[in-house]
Amino acid sequence: MPADSKHGLAAGDAFRPERADWTIDQGWEHYTPQDHATWKTLFERQTKMLVGRACDEFIEGMHRLPMGADEIPDFRRLSDSLMRRTGWQIVAVPGLVPDEVFFDHLAHRRFPAGQFIRRPQELDYLEEPDVFHDVFGHVPMLMNPAIADYIQAYGEGGLRAQQLGVLDQLARVYWYTVEFGLVRQEDGLRIYGAGIASSFTESVFALDSPSPHRIGFDLARVMRTRYRIDDFQESYFVIDSLEQLLELARIDFAPVYAAIRGQAEHAPGTVLESDRVIHRGIGSYHRAKRPAQPG
Ligand SMILES: [Fe+2]
Repeated sequence: MPADSKHGLAAGDAFRPERADWTIDQGWEHYTPQDHATWKTLFERQTKMLVGRACDEFIEGMHRLPMGADEIPDFRRLSDSLMRRTGWQIVAVPGLVPDEVFFDHLAHRRFPAGQFIRRPQELDYLEEPDVFHDVFGHVPMLMNPAIADYIQAYGEGGLRAQQLGVLDQLARVYWYTVEFGLVRQEDGLRIYGAGIASSFTESVFALDSPSPHRIGFDLARVMRTRYRIDDFQESYFVIDSLEQLLELARIDFAPVYAAIRGQAEHAPGTVLESDRVIHRGIGSYHRAKRPAQPG
């Protein structure tokens, strides 16, 4: 695998792994001192940043895992801890994998984690999920029983959604919960989404910036809402507790897909009258980035 080019699905057919489930060996022994040093830099600055920002369950999960600053974690050891607590394991993959492969892993409580680590000159790298995003961002939450069940249900739902042709709608639910979700705690809003928890800049933006909207989570609403893959989110959706995800895991989404079929999609920065608005954003961040209107 060329270290400085694309990974996984994005790397093209020539780099497709031999195994049909796209797993590879983590090859822990092959990480270089530079790889571990990059992990350490990311781990230390993000651990400091998340104090008072990540939800209590994230912090608790992190403490219970064999994960520290000094080296990239060994997936076998992470899996031992996870297996005992929530029955999950981590499998190494080269990068993004095809949807049906991803869903099948999740449905069987296997979390596919990118094996590579970003380059030291790209610490705030966004394009492809690497070992820091996948392991630091996702694995602590997989120690929580509610999230553990929810993500498995998402994998099962993904296989059904593919057959129904509603994958975009389902993917938005994952995006606005597992990746970019906020949760209300007694002392304020906190981060549980891995996309935020693994990002130095977004972990500040999502909670502190006056720019984005923070809106109470509603399933059908979220299914209709597009998202940004290349920048901070314009809206974050807030759940009242992680138990809400457990309820979601039990819901049959089929009637919800049917109810919203043919309805318009919402732009990422739209606020609806029916929204439970927690903070109405001023939109300054994304407005400043839009090209000026001619004339
Ligand atoms: Fe992720």
